[in-house]
Amino acid sequence: MNDDRLRDLLEKMTLEEKVGQMVQISGEFLEKGSVLTGPMLEKGFTNEAICLAGSVIGIQNAATMRRIQKNYMERHPHEIPALFMMDVINGYRTVFPIPLAQGCAFEPDLSEKCSSAAAREAASSGIHVTFAPMADLVRDARWGRVMESPGEDPYLNSLYCRAMVRGFQGEDIKYSGKIAACVKHFAAYGAPVAGRDYNTVELSEHTLREFYIPAYDSGIKAGAEMVMAAFNTVNRIPSTGNKWLLKDLLRKELGFDGVLISDWAAIEELIAHGYCNGRKEAAEKAFGAGIDIDMMSGIYSEHLSDLVRSETIHEKEIDKAVYRILRLKNRLGLFEHPYKDAGEEEEKKYFLCQKHRKIALEAAEKSCVLLKNEGEFPLKIGRKTAFIGPYVNTNKLTGSWSFTGDKKEIVSIKEILSEYPEYTENITCMQGSPMIEFDMELKGFDEEEKEKISGDEIEKMLDDAEEVAKEAQSVVMFLGEHFLQSGEAASRAYITIPSVQKRLFDRVYNVNKNISVVLFSGRPLDIMDISRKANAILLAWLPGTEGARAIMNILTGTAAPEGKLSMSFPWSVGQIPIFYNSDSTGRPYDNHIQQDRFRSRYLDIPNEPLYPFGYGLTYTSFSISEVVLDRTRISRGEKICASVLVKNTGGRTGIETIQMYIRDLVASVVRPVKELKAFKKITILPGEEKTVCFDIGEQELSFYKSDGRYGCEEGKFRVYIGTDSRTDNFKEFILE
Ligand code: BGC
Repeated sequence: MNDDRLRDLLEKMTLEEKVGQMVQISGEFLEKGSVLTGPMLEKGFTNEAICLAGSVIGIQNAATMRRIQKNYMERHPHEIPALFMMDVINGYRTVFPIPLAQGCAFEPDLSEKCSSAAAREAASSGIHVTFAPMADLVRDARWGRVMESPGEDPYLNSLYCRAMVRGFQGEDIKYSGKIAACVKHFAAYGAPVAGRDYNTVELSEHTLREFYIPAYDSGIKAGAEMVMAAFNTVNRIPSTGNKWLLKDLLRKELGFDGVLISDWAAIEELIAHGYCNGRKEAAEKAFGAGIDIDMMSGIYSEHLSDLVRSETIHEKEIDKAVYRILRLKNRLGLFEHPYKDAGEEEEKKYFLCQKHRKIALEAAEKSCVLLKNEGEFPLKIGRKTAFIGPYVNTNKLTGSWSFTGDKKEIVSIKEILSEYPEYTENITCMQGSPMIEFDMELKGFDEEEKEKISGDEIEKMLDDAEEVAKEAQSVVMFLGEHFLQSGEAASRAYITIPSVQKRLFDRVYNVNKNISVVLFSGRPLDIMDISRKANAILLAWLPGTEGARAIMNILTGTAAPEGKLSMSFPWSVGQIPIFYNSDSTGRPYDNHIQQDRFRSRYLDIPNEPLYPFGYGLTYTSFSISEVVLDRTRISRGEKICASVLVKNTGGRTGIETIQMYIRDLVASVVRPVKELKAFKKITILPGEEKTVCFDIGEQELSFYKSDGRYGCEEGKFRVYIGTDSRTDNFKEFILE
């Protein structure tokens, strides 16, 4: 439909019909059995409102979508099609590793492929818009939703957000297999105080702009059709009603022109925040801040028309919002093809197809991080090995946002062993303990059947595991968080593996010191004790559909690990929030030299995390030369080239991610001790040397200055090049 016809259509619509476009309802109102990703509210939704609601959340299959769309359009006075939206976060039926794990691959292009495959499958089920990517920067591992973010670095997050938007949307969302992306949660939802979900966010504007905004901005620049406002406050004003945030910053400064949606029932939450005195005021404030679609509070359908009639809101403003929504439907081609790609045949063709499985395997392999290895991995053929732990024989290898994936289609480590015949006869598998203590209640989006194991049975499992461990030459333990311990509303104060699994680890360690661990998790965990005792640790995160195969490929050496941490693993919870790019303090502490007491440090633990951002080992080793600069002074507009010579000093071909960090030594505002500005992944043969160069210019040296403007300042800089954020390999240069 051309734009004139779209505007004609808008003109013909009644006020109620227009407001209907601004209302999103759960599929549950239309058909029982849709997925619910938030509390179900009955208020505000009259039958008429349901009939006119312009978008639906939570429908997950083509047949239902087609039925609902048909009935909806038949009833709609202008036969306007509905938009179908859903959280397609890290896959649909084929499930990829959680985004935090994908960040560890340091390969945004691979995540573009994952998002593209997810879009293809979701589109087949009739989904038009995904509530992804989540671009929230994360620094606090207590927050359960760190699993949905690519991590703690603004540069890496920006690359990932852009790649995912491209993957979902492609060249044109009208094309077959493409869906619209929604960058969320604007803004800074990833910084709740003390890591408690939905809690207050308290950030300076400087920190907000420098660290948190870039990833959203990069998704918007990549053409994301939608943005979702966050639940949290920014500067004491809830984002959903925050005019400065949504109109001045998002619309005017960042130039976002697409559809802005609230989070689930967030307009109603303006009342609980104490920011609005009732539903009518909430409608006024959310609309005033620029929210186009009300997700599931019912407040827009209840009050917007009256607010126009009482002239509190001008109908012209409603028209602008509705135009954006109709334009999105039109861009998707829904006026001509209201079902778009939805079809049962399409679902059959794309769900878990070979192409998608291959991407899932590559992503799972590349996002595993080898944290420690004292010669244990790859496993030795012929060595009597016990595989012990609740992750040995489970298909729950996907994150909490993977409800569209069917766990029955996922194979466990135990099941996949037969594909590695030279190892199988020497491996004994044993569960050892339940996944979680039996008094722990966990609820997710899908029904989670509870393991019914009594206290006595657990003791027996532990005893049996100890016996098997005694007999083995080495033990690999498959341990970790339950997949419902991370995700939304899953904040934790003790970020350890479940205590029953820690008991199992201790019992096994007591009888066999040749112990290594494959760790599953949706967040960085406190693994200090395990890290001291285990000879090797492979971090597998929640690796998805092909997770078991990826892990076995790495354990057997068919593949080598190459992941680098996208988020620091703390030494202890007491360090949190911890992130590598912290500001310089007035009393810096250097643990390599003897210093007086009055330093910025802890008495009982180091300042550094246990495993830092950018860190990860592989099956070979590398040496890196000193940094070489092609000059030591540059003027504005010029570039300097910094390079290192990297040598593979081990015995097998390896992949290394060479990272370049900048430090601005003196500036008009305090600057971070290091900031990632570029990285390159290289493959090197044993004994081979490769030169890796990075160009540095104004772009790499810019920041928000004390006058609030973005740019660089003259002075001295350090360029660090290394294999993780701890690197001390630097040279200095001057910008004149
Ligand atoms: C989450 C969003 C999600 C929405 C719809 C909310 O609770 O915060 O990230 O997109 O539900 O499922």
